Amino acid sequence: MLGDKKIIFSGVQPSGNLTIGNYLGAIKNFSAFSEEYKCFYCVVDMHAITVRQVAADLRRRTYETLALYIACGLDPEKNTLFVQSHVPAHAELGWVLDCHTMFGELSRMTQFKDKSAKHADNINAGLFTYPALMAADILLYQTDLVPVGIDQKQHLELSRDIAQRFNGIYGDTFTVPEPYIAKSGMKIMSLAEPLSKMSKSDTNQNAVVYILDGKDDIIRKFKRAVTDSGSEIRMSDDKPGINNLMTIYSCFTGKSFDDIEREFEGKGYGDFKLAVGEVCADALTPVREKFNALMNDKAYLEEIMKKGADEAAYCARKTMSKVKRKLGFVAL
Ligand code: TYM
Repeated sequence: MLGDKKIIFSGVQPSGNLTIGNYLGAIKNFSAFSEEYKCFYCVVDMHAITVRQVAADLRRRTYETLALYIACGLDPEKNTLFVQSHVPAHAELGWVLDCHTMFGELSRMTQFKDKSAKHADNINAGLFTYPALMAADILLYQTDLVPVGIDQKQHLELSRDIAQRFNGIYGDTFTVPEPYIAKSGMKIMSLAEPLSKMSKSDTNQNAVVYILDGKDDIIRKFKRAVTDSGSEIRMSDDKPGINNLMTIYSCFTGKSFDDIEREFEGKGYGDFKLAVGEVCADALTPVREKFNALMNDKAYLEEIMKKGADEAAYCARKTMSKVKRKLGFVAL
């Protein structure tokens, strides 16, 4: 709690162009919490370097991710928006939690297994201990609730285990966080392989719709989306392509699956794919326009970064001094 408000923390890696998976699974949902909760939304650049980055690209994407937070509706006056590497307490607590996280626990993380298969030439220690740094992000702010897509659920569960372990050894130190996984949009799948997650690191550009794609690209990508045999628009276990498109349509329009099935009764996949493309493009046009305006004002973005880092550091410092005291570190 901060005052009488519960605390929310979430983060996005500036490791690629953000997709409608990031948007529907996470960022779009963030602004709904601003009034009721004290919210911290972080651009987690330190996580991004677990995979090799080009420095200039990382720097640009850090600005872009912050601009996208704002363009997607996060008001910097009502939310603390900041960059992870600006608050060194993340690294500091990350180390402490490394020492309270088990090798076996980290070895079981599916994201580590996936990423180490993908980057076999760079299976570094940071990639392995990534979830302990993520736990540090969350626990540093005494977070109550963490809005994420379902792919992050396993990391969240580990964060809870680490918090409980630490509290068990040293006495009450951290709030044990709960995941908040929106029912709609929790996992948006690739348009080319609807059994895999839509991912910003996918090399097939047609599989992924980026938040900043233009209308023509969006419509073209949806037109090409892989669908299933048959022709009916309805949710079904054997129709992963249509299920994904219906989920996307439902997230953008707020319509239920039943309503969508009725709306497209008697119509074919072609009509449906065009309709999904159109609602997506229409929803993202104002986001793109706001983003472009923000990217032309780097000074403003830096001002937000600075203010966010100060606010975050203030809260982080309180937790860190408690942690150090409990561990037995000498305070000067
Ligand atoms: P990242 O950067 O991969 O993704 C950011 C957010 O987008 C969600 N997401 C999706 N949701 C639905 N469908 C998809 N296809 C999809 N792809 C991504 C993710 O679940 C996430 O919510 N480890 C985190 C970043 C992180 C973090 C944190 C999150 C670091 N520290 C602390 C919360 C709290 C990550 O790699 O997200």
